[in-house]
Amino acid sequence: MNNKLWGGRFEGGVVPAMAAFSDSIAFDRRLWRVDIQGSQAYAAALGGAGLLTAEEVSELQSGLDRVAAEWESDTFELRPSDEDIHTANERRLGELVGSVAGKLHTGRSRNDQVATDLRLWLRDEIDALHGDLRQLIGVMADRAEELLGVAMPGFTHLQTAQPIRFSHWLLSHAWPLVRDLERLGQVRARVNVLPLGSGALAGNPFAIDREKLAAALGFEAVSANSVDAVSTRDFAAEFLFAASLSMVHLSQLAEDIVIHSSQPFGFLQLADAYSTGSSLMPQKKNPDSFELIRGKSGRVAGSLTGLLITLKGLPRAYNRDLQEDKEPLFDTVATWHGALEIAAGAIATMECRSDRTAAVMDDFMLATDVAEHLVRRGVPFRQAHHVAGAAVRLAETRGLALAELEAADWASLHPTLAGGIAGLLDFEASLESRDVEGGTSERAQRTQLERLRQSLERL
Ligand code: ARG
Repeated sequence: MNNKLWGGRFEGGVVPAMAAFSDSIAFDRRLWRVDIQGSQAYAAALGGAGLLTAEEVSELQSGLDRVAAEWESDTFELRPSDEDIHTANERRLGELVGSVAGKLHTGRSRNDQVATDLRLWLRDEIDALHGDLRQLIGVMADRAEELLGVAMPGFTHLQTAQPIRFSHWLLSHAWPLVRDLERLGQVRARVNVLPLGSGALAGNPFAIDREKLAAALGFEAVSANSVDAVSTRDFAAEFLFAASLSMVHLSQLAEDIVIHSSQPFGFLQLADAYSTGSSLMPQKKNPDSFELIRGKSGRVAGSLTGLLITLKGLPRAYNRDLQEDKEPLFDTVATWHGALEIAAGAIATMECRSDRTAAVMDDFMLATDVAEHLVRRGVPFRQAHHVAGAAVRLAETRGLALAELEAADWASLHPTLAGGIAGLLDFEASLESRDVEGGTSERAQRTQLERLRQSLERL
């Protein structure tokens, strides 16, 4: 005899190793709440279709409430036959309400049930992650505003390039997160589609009202093809992509912060609460918070890759391979959430050292401004670039800064520079000269902050 829910056509049970290999209760138990939510709505739909009396519906629903209460109070007792959350809940419901429990699964399959559960669960998690992202972006906006007066070197190829504002650097990491926020909203719409009422694959034979079922569960749409509804995990893959890209963004931010908080840079200092020490070197304070964010981006991308490969070879419709969709999703939600929370806390509390950013701002970073000065006086840019380059070479061979070249040197470089370059080699002037939208002037920074905050309002 086989005591599984599907045991009727089986003579014996599976070997213990097969049970261990096949059972998903260890990880899908976290779906208990949405599984019960789905069953509550399904019981009502069966009532609406005339398959259950009003009394049976309310018996089932109050029984499901009791099952939920057991999970809530951590008193739900698992049995060896509970291979997954769906069978566990139905088994317990039967124990609590008797044979009417056997009517709940009418026309339903675990195939449409699990797809429904997972979408309900993911929708809630997306809403929580939306809040996490907003929180982090808000912190970044506040720190950017506070540190708007700090100039720092901007880099290309990790070589000092041109001066920018600290706010500009920080917000350059906030905008990708705004796009992540927008993307998450778009993914949510495709998650929020009802599969229930698709049966095992061929649809529900009992004329249940799927529109009403969707409305009861807060779904915005009803799946159009029952085979697709039980087969597709596009919504999970899309979510994993959104998470992967966002983790890549966080990893890039982390990389900058790790570099900027190293001693030769010293632009940033993380709070103790987001750092750890070395077991050997007493002086060490390491940016582990951001190293872990950078490191964990790998496993999230791995989850995306893993699911895509699981999906790739599947024939229609449901296949047990699909059970492999859950762990990558669960792990990714927890990892992304953790990364967002830690990044927000660490950025809110890190110290920015403007003395250290100033210390590495050599005036070769203003060579472009020299060329631009010539351009403003009618010299073609290619020629101006050449002249400014020659000025750098001259200063470099003499071991001087640009500002230390004599008026006669400038005159020898180009007649237009004969009057000297007074006021030109100034970091603040350079920042202010880029007053275009998206630029480094203070006005442009404030416009940018305003746009960022408007995006947060809108999304
Ligand atoms: N635990 C299974 C899963 O996660 C539930 C669906 C099982 N369906 C089936 N036909 N065996 O996919």
